[in-house]
Amino acid sequence: QDDMDRRWLGTPIEELNRMPQCAPPLSHLKHTASHTVTVRTDLLREGEVPQHYPSKFKDAWDDVSVKMPCSEKNLFSVETEVPADTSRWGLIQTALTGEFKSSLDITDAILRYNMTHAKKWDFTTLNLLCTEVLERSEAKELFEVLLPGMVKLALSAPKICTSPIPLLKARQNHSLTLSQEQISCLLANAFFCTFPKRNSRNSNYPEINFHRLFEGYSFRKIEKLKTLLCYFRRVTQTRPKGLVTFTRQCLSNPPNWESSKTLMTRLHITCEGTIEEHGYGMLQVDFANRCVGGGVTGHGLVQEEIRFIINPELIASRLFTEALESNECLIITGTEQYSKYTGYSDTYKWKENHKDETPRDDWQRRCTEIVALDAIKYRNFLEQFQPEKMSRELNKAYCGFFRPGANRKQLSAVATGNWGCGAFGGDTRLKALIQLMAAAEAGRDMAYFTFRDAQLMRDVHEMHTFLTERQTTVGRTHTHTPRPTHTQTHSL
Ligand code: AR6
Repeated sequence: QDDMDRRWLGTPIEELNRMPQCAPPLSHLKHTASHTVTVRTDLLREGEVPQHYPSKFKDAWDDVSVKMPCSEKNLFSVETEVPADTSRWGLIQTALTGEFKSSLDITDAILRYNMTHAKKWDFTTLNLLCTEVLERSEAKELFEVLLPGMVKLALSAPKICTSPIPLLKARQNHSLTLSQEQISCLLANAFFCTFPKRNSRNSNYPEINFHRLFEGYSFRKIEKLKTLLCYFRRVTQTRPKGLVTFTRQCLSNPPNWESSKTLMTRLHITCEGTIEEHGYGMLQVDFANRCVGGGVTGHGLVQEEIRFIINPELIASRLFTEALESNECLIITGTEQYSKYTGYSDTYKWKENHKDETPRDDWQRRCTEIVALDAIKYRNFLEQFQPEKMSRELNKAYCGFFRPGANRKQLSAVATGNWGCGAFGGDTRLKALIQLMAAAEAGRDMAYFTFRDAQLMRDVHEMHTFLTERQTTVGRTHTHTPRPTHTQTHSL
């Protein structure tokens, strides 16, 4: 009976490792073959806006770099009314510099340099926001202060984003460190849809321009726009002062799961709280799509999309992260939370500004580490119990949790929950076990947030206690992973 009232079980959360306390000092930040840093590392100071590097815009228009809207090579080719060799950036500057008095002016401006889309793109939601949702004074602030600030930020691209941004391509380990200010500039460009269309024939990248957020008649998108505008208000008022690192990590040598002698690590499990709020300082799992951010620039509004709009710097990853393969993940360190929210999916509402007080590390990054892990989407429930599917998920989770060369005692705990079990239709008990095995193998404890499911909390705790009391190894657990009939009765 007593257990029925428990809100958490297992190891007290205070005993689990968090950043920055658990981590060893960082080595000096420097640009290397496997790590692109777009700021002056020698001038990095706490409380100061990092200096971009190099000092002058370096143009790159090739298939290893992001194609920037301000590139000289960004020309019109097939448009009708403009000569073939017209600079698109010139037109963008002219179009955006005009005064905005209504949402129609924004629409007109965006369409001037997106003429091929003029017939398809629709701005109903943007219009709805400006005319029906915002109070008069709010609309006034939007047109007179916020949007001009965002235009200025977007047009500063050749001054701030001077270094070519490498694409984080499939099957390549690479890190990219940008300043939060550079990211704000990239995102302002995404808002105004200035990024050139990617070569769609061999493009495997998420959409970066925000045009889909403006289309349709959608109250979900209204709330998403309010959340993003809160971010733009903040970064146009005060230049952000930190850095963010994006790391694509590929797992080339997966563990031999059957023969693993590793024992389970510790588990804190709770039916209250969220990964982002109560898992601060831990490695937080983003329940991702293989195209990171999933439907963030469109209709989507579940765990990943919510995280990407409250921490909008995550959205920048869509500009350069090729779709994740089965043995890959994206680790994002240093993003800041700018908004508070309530609800979920259809009930999601932007609440208010959030002041993020997370401490910064020596590289001036917020100690917020998020890992994008895309589970498999199951249409058929039983499919996930196939051994090759389970191996895929084990290796995916392990890829996200494992840190080469790290001392296990210094690794933060994993903060996770029902990964792959909402939109992607996975089984919570099986996925919890898979994540526990992967965390154990990577040497990390786990804080698991069941998202109000008290029965799941008790079941996973019971499963974990069973395994730890018998000192069951990951290898033995793997061999005896529950079959569907067992799982459906919720026991081992
Ligand atoms: N903290 C803890 N648990 C949460 C939180 C939170 N903040 N939010 C949701 N949950 P889902 P998936 C729980 O459906 O199945 C996106 O479009 C809640 O129980 O977002 O992996 C991506 O881009 C919820 O049902 O993840 C992908 O395309 C469960 O986590 C796709 O969805 C799963 O959340 C991924 O779907």
